[in-house]
Amino acid sequence: MDEARVVLRPATAEDFWLFERQAVEPDAGGTFNWSGFRDVRATRRRFGENGLITPDGGCLIVVHDSTVVGTVGWGRVSYGADTWWCWNIGISLLPEYRGKGVGTVAQKHLVAYLFDTGPVQRVEAYTDVDNMAEQRALEKAGFVREGCCARPSSAPAAGATSSSTASSAPSRRQVRYGRSRTNASKIGESGKGCIVPTMRQPHRR
Ligand SMILES: CC(C)(COP(=O)(O)OP(=O)(O)OC[C@H]1O[C@@H](n2cnc3c(N)ncnc32)[C@H](O)[C@@H]1OP(=O)(O)O)[C@@H](O)C(=O)NCCC(=O)NCCS
Repeated sequence: MDEARVVLRPATAEDFWLFERQAVEPDAGGTFNWSGFRDVRATRRRFGENGLITPDGGCLIVVHDSTVVGTVGWGRVSYGADTWWCWNIGISLLPEYRGKGVGTVAQKHLVAYLFDTGPVQRVEAYTDVDNMAEQRALEKAGFVREGCCARPSSAPAAGATSSSTASSAPSRRQVRYGRSRTNASKIGESGKGCIVPTMRQPHRR
């Protein structure tokens, strides 16, 4: 995979077909991410206020060879003291664009972007213990597996009722992955360091 073929860019008004799919199709965002139908008007309101990028987190569009293929997101999390925080990231690629290496590269780009644009020392990600594609993609993006934990709820996992027959229905356990700034320079297959995503002109459909 030529990593330059994958770019991250801010969302535009033309991208709402993607948010609409993610809001109503369980597999558009990924069944491991599914937690029920969402009101896309809330996303539109946030987009109108801040373009889906705030000091506490954001969302970027993943583009592969000029085609919109999904989203990445990040949010500020802190454990204990508010003065200590890190970014927690997530990704959703449309089903038709999975398994082509895009998820690995998009998450490498997001990590590079976050380390490049702020002082944060750590980026982390949680994923379902059965989500092998995301676990492998995170490892290939330079994340280190740190442990396994219960979902932060005693209730059945989101989606478990409606999707319990699907092989990818969420389980009750998650795996945590972390990446520190100190090894960020190892990102990139070229060995030349981080590849900062190019912010190109919005893709027109
Ligand atoms: C998870 C996701 C981001 C991975 O991105 P991707 O582009 O599909 O994955 P890649 O093509 O980069 O593959 C990464 C690795 O996972 C492996 N892989 C891909 N799909 C797999 C599957 N279903 N089972 C096991 N391994 C899989 C690939 O073979 C590759 O490993 P390899 O290079 O050693 O062969 C993407 O599939 C996705 O968006 N899924 C739905 C949403 C989701 O689950 N998000 C994460 C929730 S926290």
